[in-house]
Amino acid sequence: MSTDTLTVTDNRTGKKYEVPIVDGAIRASDLRQFKLDPADYGLMSYDPAFTNTASTKSSITYLDGDEGILLYRGYPIEQLAEKSTHLETAYLILNGELPTAPQLAKLEAEIKKHWFIHENIKHLIDAFRHDAHPMGMFISAVGASSSFHPESANIFDPAIRNEQIVRLISEVPTIAAFSYRHIRGLPVVYPDDDLSYTGNFLSMMFKRTEHHYKPNPVLERALDILFILHADHEQNCSTNTMRAIGSAHADPYVALAGAAAALYGPLHGGANEAVVRMLSKIATTKNIPEFIASVKRGEGKLMGFGHRVYKNFDPRGKIVKQLAYEVFEVTGRNPLLDVALELERIALEDDYFITRKLYPNVDFYSGLIYQAMGLPTPFFPVLFAIPRTVGWLAQWVELLEDPEQKIARPRQVYTGEPSRDYVSIDARRGQ
Ligand code: CMC
Repeated sequence: MSTDTLTVTDNRTGKKYEVPIVDGAIRASDLRQFKLDPADYGLMSYDPAFTNTASTKSSITYLDGDEGILLYRGYPIEQLAEKSTHLETAYLILNGELPTAPQLAKLEAEIKKHWFIHENIKHLIDAFRHDAHPMGMFISAVGASSSFHPESANIFDPAIRNEQIVRLISEVPTIAAFSYRHIRGLPVVYPDDDLSYTGNFLSMMFKRTEHHYKPNPVLERALDILFILHADHEQNCSTNTMRAIGSAHADPYVALAGAAAALYGPLHGGANEAVVRMLSKIATTKNIPEFIASVKRGEGKLMGFGHRVYKNFDPRGKIVKQLAYEVFEVTGRNPLLDVALELERIALEDDYFITRKLYPNVDFYSGLIYQAMGLPTPFFPVLFAIPRTVGWLAQWVELLEDPEQKIARPRQVYTGEPSRDYVSIDARRGQ
């Protein structure tokens, strides 16, 4: 008898079942054989928020939360952050292997081919108010792009699919930068083929009257590293959304708009924005003890701390913290850094955070870098969405090519009223 099985006795019936264990998991559908009688639907597993449910097999990203390990296609995040570029990492995430020089050159050329967006998308962005949240603009523009590329509905045609993937990776910085210029009341800056992916993004954001914008190499590289760190993170909330919408065979533009909407939430990609707001509110180190006490009283969260999977340092957080010092050499030290450092020190020594294994995550220091670069706080989640576009698309392709996947449709445990007859309005007693 194979030892890779689970033997369970159902005490309701006294029956014994043997369930296979594959890759450390049992199939939830194997529980269906646990029945009270033949008419019974069978046992389900109840897992609100999917805390212990694997929804897919994936070969893209590996995450060990106890050891603080993050690998893209087997490569440690630390090595990619040190040696790779965002576009090279994007190729790796999408294709499984690092590109050769010609493969990378081809991708870079294709990206440049697509980074102009349709002028009507610009007009759509122009319709927003000056104080609109840029994530609302980003989500709308990405979703609207679906109607500009109706061929994208052919999701099982690999050539069409690949074209949309490159176009989306290419267009998201342009959409983001145009939104920023609109909020600032500035004319848009069109893409510049002479610049890198991040260099061009900085140009579209910050170019003023100079004939040819030259990005600061330290800031260009810092942004590229931040993009690498945010490119994928396995089955997080927004990726799960991308997969859920994709499972209904929607086109990648609308699926990605949905994923970006999930990212917008303050518990997810909106956390970098929330951290800077929190640090600004704390304002000085002397206010930290009272702030920590209020968190422990349950009056709010220490934003940028904690993670569903990491129960140790988030390896991305360590890299971002180091990067912050390099960026501040150029931009000047962000005054909120001292508040952040002291807050981190106090939290890491406090029993509340120690016992719950709460450590700084990727968002704790990233907002400080963006702020030092001169970016407005509401713009921070957009800077998360741009690189995560790569991961969303890679996970979407994996979903479409996985013969085991179907439309995502969880079950529920019904706790409402049993069947009852309609009561006419004059006979209702009210609550
Ligand atoms: N501050 C204070 N207490 C916290 C925090 C926090 N940041 N995070 C978790 N806890 C407490 C939580 O209240 C709970 O306490 P108790 O056991 O007494 O009820 C315990 O720790 C376990 O937390 P949980 O809510 O069960 O954990 P979760 O896995 O459901 O939530 C999280 C993960 C990231 C949503 C949460 O840690 C959080 O809200 N953090 C702040 C927001 C944040 O920084 N988000 C960015 C995540 S990393 C980037 C990304 O991938 O999006």
